[in-house]
Amino acid sequence: MTESPDGLARFRNVLRRFTTPLLPDDYTVLANPLWSKRELRGKIERVERFPDDTIHLVIRPGWGVPVNFKAGQYIGIGLRVDGRYTWRSYSLTNAPDTRDGLFAITIRAVEKGRLSNHLVGTAQPGINVRLAAPAGDFHLTDPVPEKLLFVTAGSGVTPVVAMLRTLVDRRQVTDIKVVHSVRNRSDLIFEDVLEDFDAHIQVTSEQGRVSPAVLEELVPDYRERVVYACGPATMLDELETWASDNDIEIRVERFTLERASDAKGGTITFARRGIQTAADGATTILEAGEAAGVQMPFGCRMGICQTCVRELVDGHVHDLRTGDTREPGSRIRTCVGVAAGDITIDA
Ligand code: FES
Repeated sequence: MTESPDGLARFRNVLRRFTTPLLPDDYTVLANPLWSKRELRGKIERVERFPDDTIHLVIRPGWGVPVNFKAGQYIGIGLRVDGRYTWRSYSLTNAPDTRDGLFAITIRAVEKGRLSNHLVGTAQPGINVRLAAPAGDFHLTDPVPEKLLFVTAGSGVTPVVAMLRTLVDRRQVTDIKVVHSVRNRSDLIFEDVLEDFDAHIQVTSEQGRVSPAVLEELVPDYRERVVYACGPATMLDELETWASDNDIEIRVERFTLERASDAKGGTITFARRGIQTAADGATTILEAGEAAGVQMPFGCRMGICQTCVRELVDGHVHDLRTGDTREPGSRIRTCVGVAAGDITIDA
């Protein structure tokens, strides 16, 4: 028996005839836990632990998971934590390589981070995880710009590490400057990769943060470069303004959803289930539904993959990513939509 899509489809068809009332997936999962038509899965293959609550994971994707990602993209990881599936997105840190088809991610345990703390504490080779396919717009363009400037802070270095590794793999290293900030020197990860690019490391507890003025001093020809930036929202906001003022092309990746909005929240009615719940203007419809026992499909939980889209039947929804207000009848992303008053969702 093989894991090829055709072979697996035939295997499922045969099973379908014999397995009622259980679904074929119940049996295929017994045969190989990475086979499932209902969801994408993977298996942790390697775990490398570091003293500062950081781990590197290598994951082998299961059947049906697209492995041809672009450097800079992220995947979603889902695991059952305290009886409930918890999902987070992590940037891939390896260069895309369809020969081995593996995913590498780096996770640091963060305060109140359910999944990050769980993984840092318990991840072992052999553990199965759910996966959301690689996604994200923060990736290298083709052709690669001749002059690049990467500005990162903290774990914002992770997608850039994948880009740097890819540029080395493809022998496309041209004129690249890297400016990376860490609070303390002990927070530095991927030192070897950064060293290869002669990166400037700014230790903010000693040297202060990298402001646009500091950046201009460090990289005098900044106007000639395409900038990729990933880090805290305040840093990205400042860099976007600076880039716009100086007519610089910039691409940014925001790890966290900015939850501050004018949306006042309201009562959310999940029409098909007949369930109602109250939510404030910072709690997404997806989160509010989960807390009320309404499980809706989702993937990235960052407003990108569209898996969570549902129809807004009544009321208005504020989209935290775009800042738009959506009208009744529109299809909304429940993972980034919050109630702007009482709303009804077709779910
Ligand atoms: S889960 Fe991906 S867009 Fe909502």
